[in-house]
Amino acid sequence: MNNNKILITAALPYANGSIHIGHMVEYTQADIWARVQKLKGKTCYFVCADDAHGTPIMLKARELGVSEQDIIDKTKKEHEGDFKDFLIEFDNYHSTHSDENKFYAEDIYNKIKQKGYIKSKIIQQAYDEKEQMFLPDRFIKGICPKCKAVDQYGDSCEKCGATYNPSDLIDACSTISGTTPTQKESEHLFFQLSKKEDMLKKWTNAGHIQDEIKNKINEWFETGLKDWDISRDAPYWGFKIPDTVDKYFYVWLDAPIGYMASFKNLCDKSDLDFAEFWHKNSECELYHFIGKDIAYFHTLFWPAMLDGADYRTPTQVFCHGFLTVNGEKMSKSRGTFIKADTYLKYLPAEYLRYYFAAKLNFGVDDIDLNLEDFKTRINSDLIGKLINIASRTAGFVKKFDLKLGAEIDNKELLKTCQDKSSDIIINYQKRNYAKAIRQIMDLADLTNQYIAKMEPWILIKDDKNRQQVLNICTTALNVFKILMIYLKPVLPDLSKKCEDFFNLPPQNFNNINDILLNHKINKFKPMLQRIEQSQIDDLLNDKS
Ligand code: MSP
Ligand code: ZN
Repeated sequence: MNNNKILITAALPYANGSIHIGHMVEYTQADIWARVQKLKGKTCYFVCADDAHGTPIMLKARELGVSEQDIIDKTKKEHEGDFKDFLIEFDNYHSTHSDENKFYAEDIYNKIKQKGYIKSKIIQQAYDEKEQMFLPDRFIKGICPKCKAVDQYGDSCEKCGATYNPSDLIDACSTISGTTPTQKESEHLFFQLSKKEDMLKKWTNAGHIQDEIKNKINEWFETGLKDWDISRDAPYWGFKIPDTVDKYFYVWLDAPIGYMASFKNLCDKSDLDFAEFWHKNSECELYHFIGKDIAYFHTLFWPAMLDGADYRTPTQVFCHGFLTVNGEKMSKSRGTFIKADTYLKYLPAEYLRYYFAAKLNFGVDDIDLNLEDFKTRINSDLIGKLINIASRTAGFVKKFDLKLGAEIDNKELLKTCQDKSSDIIINYQKRNYAKAIRQIMDLADLTNQYIAKMEPWILIKDDKNRQQVLNICTTALNVFKILMIYLKPVLPDLSKKCEDFFNLPPQNFNNINDILLNHKINKFKPMLQRIEQSQIDDLLNDKS
């Protein structure tokens, strides 16, 4: 095992909305992976932040009559609460509206400018005369020039999929003031991505990204890399660009730099060395977890910016698919646009973590939360199989003053469970969580079959079998302890309850080989509850 230090990030959620269960796919996937590294004994940091700049936040502040700072402060608190409740264990959570981020945004910009990657161009842009502001494509609506669908955005049509310029829209109007936009000239700054083409071609083909994403990028190479507009005119909520009058960095320029800023903020609170992780030849590993919608930013702009400014590039960018609910895009009208805190009113976080883990692999396919399947799966896997091992056997140990036996009845079963460890850990490492979970549940099945075959509840009726019953239960409970260590990245709270039940300190993957004999345990208390249909119904009916 190499001993490189690891930095993991998850995409920075926008500070203008709530965390929903779609987001949780990503934060759960990344959190499990970070926990796996830590349980392996690796030095690993997992950081994130709120993405706190951009037009939507500015407009929301205006609408509510508060400052942008008020909005982002409030949202950050809310987001941090949601993440904590979902057991997402960040080592640091920061904001892109921070001193550190301003510093690194200016630093990177100045370096790439010095190297000649920035050029300025005069462009024509839609302008709202009433609001005295340039309009991002998303704030212009009109009739699609191709299929004539009404109410389409300025950049693309949701009906026919056509992409176009806002000036092509028929009867365009500003969604902010309702007036017809005019065209106005403005000088913008562009990052000349094509100047980084050689570097990007090399990087994207060197195993840093998944094949599906690589294919997509090769298409982008074929159509040619376009200059990237990194500036926005005032009024804009963001960082001012050095040496300009009233030009601001586009939110996507400073957003990924937020990864650095959050880590820098952590370094300043601890004795970590920022440069060790970020200098050009750093041996530390850097992993980004992202959704497929933002691959372009992370696999082209971001490595180009980093390399252009003489920083290290990511070790890997891990892309995942989107969450659908009952086979369809999450939807407010169907009640399936479920906010994180709404879910938690009815169901435990670990159930969703488990379900996502059982469905996630290393690909970019969408994953579906089928609520019927969710209920069945949790009830059968977690309650029917996993917890069942302990609940059927712990009671008998009570008759022995809660002390496990001196002998394992079925050494082979125990060994089978221990021998699976490298396989299971490798599957976690490869982000093939679905396979790891299947392997763990197979072991739970084997153990339940063993208990059923031995029938300790019948054996106990005859006093001469007392010792054997204890040894059977000692076997089953040792397996239970091992399975709970395997599941610790996914179910950290349940694992903690299990450690308490066994009177054990926090366990890691090395503890899989420990066998508990003559060991005092605690009285078994029910650890999980079955999902009832009414909980699902109530969740879908909750419109908050
Ligand atoms: N602010 C940007 C990311 C900047 S990273 C430098 C952003 N924010 S977001 O709030 O829209 O999304 C945050 C992450 O959640 C993204 O990786 C996005 O792909 C992911 N998801 C958002 N909705 C999702 C689903 N419905 N399903 C799965 N992941 C989803 O993008
Ligand atoms: Zn159309």
